[in-house]
Amino acid sequence: MSGHGEAQPMKSRKSGPLKGVAAVPGDKSISHRSLIFGAMAVGETTITGLLEGQDVLDTAKAMRAFGATVTRHGEGAWTVNGVGVGGFQEPSDVLDVGNSGTGARLIMGTMATTPITATFTGDASLRKRPMGRVTDPLSMFGARAYGRKGGRLPMTIVGAANPVPVRYALPVASAQVKSAVLLAGLNAPGETVVIEREPTRDHSERMLVGFGAQLHVEKTAEGHVITLTGQPELRPQTVAVPRDPSSAAFPVCAALIVEGSDILVPGVSQNLTRNGLYLTLVEMGAEIEFQNPREEGGEPVADLRVRFSGNMKGIEVPPERAPSMIDEYPVLSVVAAFAQGKTVMRGIKELRVKESDRIDAMARGLEACGVRVEEDEDTLIVHGMGAGGVPGGATCATHIDHRIAMSFLVCGLAAKAPVAVDDGSPIQTSFPIFEGLMRGLGAEIERG
Ligand code: S3P
Repeated sequence: MSGHGEAQPMKSRKSGPLKGVAAVPGDKSISHRSLIFGAMAVGETTITGLLEGQDVLDTAKAMRAFGATVTRHGEGAWTVNGVGVGGFQEPSDVLDVGNSGTGARLIMGTMATTPITATFTGDASLRKRPMGRVTDPLSMFGARAYGRKGGRLPMTIVGAANPVPVRYALPVASAQVKSAVLLAGLNAPGETVVIEREPTRDHSERMLVGFGAQLHVEKTAEGHVITLTGQPELRPQTVAVPRDPSSAAFPVCAALIVEGSDILVPGVSQNLTRNGLYLTLVEMGAEIEFQNPREEGGEPVADLRVRFSGNMKGIEVPPERAPSMIDEYPVLSVVAAFAQGKTVMRGIKELRVKESDRIDAMARGLEACGVRVEEDEDTLIVHGMGAGGVPGGATCATHIDHRIAMSFLVCGLAAKAPVAVDDGSPIQTSFPIFEGLMRGLGAEIERG
């Protein structure tokens, strides 16, 4: 699991129609944040619908190491007894956050303005990912970071004893960096300001307000200017974690390409900072009905009725949409392979520093499945072969990346010949019930 354990080869094959209800687990971003914010509140936060994937379990373990009491009461039902802003104790051992960039970066921000020292490590995938993007702004607060060359884990953060507030314009569109700066700002006196040119997922802002922080967002010519007043006492909350739109993407995309499918995916977030994939699929001609719009766990959601869509067309995905669908490009590129014409995805170089280099991983795997692709540093172009047109018959390398594994397993459900992945074990990090849920819909997915 998370690249630590044995590789688990998996395979999928052309399946009959997918039918039924796909109830996907809780949102990964909101799950991490509910544990972290709960640990910074004074009193007991109650969480329902928590994603019990390995990434989130690793964050729960880290919160315990900082002194919070984190307890599981039943499936998805957890409580966190927090230690208050600035109340983190020094962990007695190295923190292993597994595969999770979100865990590593948000937790670094959280402890960076408390006078304690913590050392972070992770699996082989996380140890390749750049941390300078968070340690640069954290050093402005007065924290120090000692990592490997290129700002890689393992890395020790020495928290600032006398933090100062920071004004920081994000150089990359990254909710993780934005959140790390806001979390550090919580224990700095005065106002910390983060400016983002392109809006990224806004769960930290929404949830911090819910936990009682003073935070406001102004839309200006520079972008979103987020101002946070430091050193609040955070109030514990009751958090109902909504379902994860990034996990919902897999059954949705599978139903679109498997002939005769008709499924219902309840409670998919319509948050404008997360719904880019769904806008794109509709533009491609996907048959998706957005039913019963409502609010759940503070997020706008709808139930998605998704039918096989044999006439999807490739499109040019607007680059400015990238932050709202950043995790969905791998599975979109699979749908693109089953559409007619080419799908052009530009402005996506951030994909190169995810759990794997996702442009490279998708390009190589699709090529192996017989699909023509073009790529450059910032772009992926997929030449669609139409419904049922993808040859398949390949084994694709997942590079310890859950979304690459799930994307190719989705591909195999509609390709002419089975598609295998060398290692499906990373799926545990974000979507532990993927295999059972997909099989329940009629997907032919097997191990080995
Ligand atoms: C996340 C932000 C995104 C996303 C990741 C979760 C978050 O990363 O890819 O899966 O919860 O803030 P970046 O901030 O690096 O774009």
